[in-house]
Amino acid sequence: MTTGTTTEATADALMTEVPGIDTSRMPEPLALVIFGASGDLATRKLLPALARHAENGALPRGFAVVGVARSGIGDEGFRDLCAKVEGAEDNAAWQQVIRKFRYVAGDYSDPATFERLAAVLAEVDVEPGAAGNRVYYLATVPDLFGTVARGLAAYKANEPGPGGSFARLVVEKPFGADLDSSRALDDELHECFAEDQIFRIDHYMGKETVQNVLALRFANAIFEPIWNRRYVDHVQVTVAESIGVEHRGNFYERAGALRDIVQNHVMQVLALTLMEPPASLNGNSIRDEKVKLLRSVVVHEAEQEIDRVVRAQYVAGEVGGVAVPGYREEDGVDPASLTETYLAMQLAVDNWRWAGVPVFVRTGKRLRQRETQVAMVFQRPPHLPFAGQLTRDLLPDALTLRIQPDEGITLCFGAKVPGPSFTIRTVAMDFSYSDAFPGGTAEAYERLLLDAMTGDPMLFIRTDEVEQAWQIVAPIQRAFTEGEPPLARYRAGSWGPAEADRLIEASGRMWRNP
Ligand code: BG6
Repeated sequence: MTTGTTTEATADALMTEVPGIDTSRMPEPLALVIFGASGDLATRKLLPALARHAENGALPRGFAVVGVARSGIGDEGFRDLCAKVEGAEDNAAWQQVIRKFRYVAGDYSDPATFERLAAVLAEVDVEPGAAGNRVYYLATVPDLFGTVARGLAAYKANEPGPGGSFARLVVEKPFGADLDSSRALDDELHECFAEDQIFRIDHYMGKETVQNVLALRFANAIFEPIWNRRYVDHVQVTVAESIGVEHRGNFYERAGALRDIVQNHVMQVLALTLMEPPASLNGNSIRDEKVKLLRSVVVHEAEQEIDRVVRAQYVAGEVGGVAVPGYREEDGVDPASLTETYLAMQLAVDNWRWAGVPVFVRTGKRLRQRETQVAMVFQRPPHLPFAGQLTRDLLPDALTLRIQPDEGITLCFGAKVPGPSFTIRTVAMDFSYSDAFPGGTAEAYERLLLDAMTGDPMLFIRTDEVEQAWQIVAPIQRAFTEGEPPLARYRAGSWGPAEADRLIEASGRMWRNP
């Protein structure tokens, strides 16, 4: 690896104000090597995010992407592909920067692929001047993660170069399919890369509104005193999607809602919402607190999970007025599939702050509408000095963090209905992100790519977090393989199965549908 000075390149770059992006953190010159460069993730998310960075002047002079994939499209073919991604049109800076992009065709299990890559990287170090710095992005199917890492190690491409140049590995979820396979994957990666070189992406951590959970909790003094078992009755986390499995039937058959959403996105959101205040916003302080919280989630035996979990699959219905097929009719799906497209569960967090406060989680595909939110539902007042019928429509107070699509925060509380009687009804006070910050926010991958390039680990998932999240879902996975609980059905376009309503109603509570 060659080394190089970065100051000229840094000073040269033209920075502009980018909403949601700290443009003072310009990455050093580097080569971003994308494995799976012609695939879905690269073309729909990564390259468009880079195109926006180019437009905003957030890429250093000595920057190049080296695409690696099987198809023999060559440098020109890859540049053509880059020239057509979302946000590329009328983006002069991007059209300029992609002229330096390179492409390596090959099979990941063939050492010759890595030999060619090493040769191209040596060229890229000279022009445009990547200075020996590397970020390797594994945008391939997960089965190839270990193969690619070993291929890189064989050329010592995993080792930071002399003079301080860096080599980082970015890995996308899923991190394994269960506790054992995730440990095996980590062992494979750790043979080639040290933990502080590995950047595991959960794209929920790149969402502005997920990060805003930290701001709400730790930049304000008014919420902290009530953020505990003395005031919170229960917590609800909803990750509802209106889309089905789209063209990913094959993948989804092996994933299901538990692996696809709960083990990662839900656990991350939950950890940020319920963890203790971190000492600082540095990468390990926050991750230490998240792990501590995840370790407090009660893990039961598989048999005990059955009453706390509902799994279900959608049948044909209507979403937004459009008729849609059932899951078993989707492409790539077994007509007798038992994969869950919906999951609801009740969790407990056994620590000083949350003991006795149930946490209800639900997620599903083909639900009535897209809605990701966390609701902190507060206890009822100890005594209501109003006649019963006057408070019939009064719901418990709740603070809802709306993560998407209508990003913001809602506080629901009781107010007097105007008129001669003392009727009380629930009203809502709203904070809307788009009203307060009309400039818009950066897309999750923009933020995460920039952080990986600058080497800021805060929003990436550490190995112990991954492991703990698998520990939590392991008994549920075991119950599923034993056929328990039975798979329920729900109509596409509904809010899920009646069994999920019964799960929460058994505790005297109800789901808060938008
Ligand atoms: C991905 C899942 O991790 O997250 C998909 O694999 C899901 O199945 C997606 O649709 C949801 O992401 P978002 O950002 O649309 O909430």
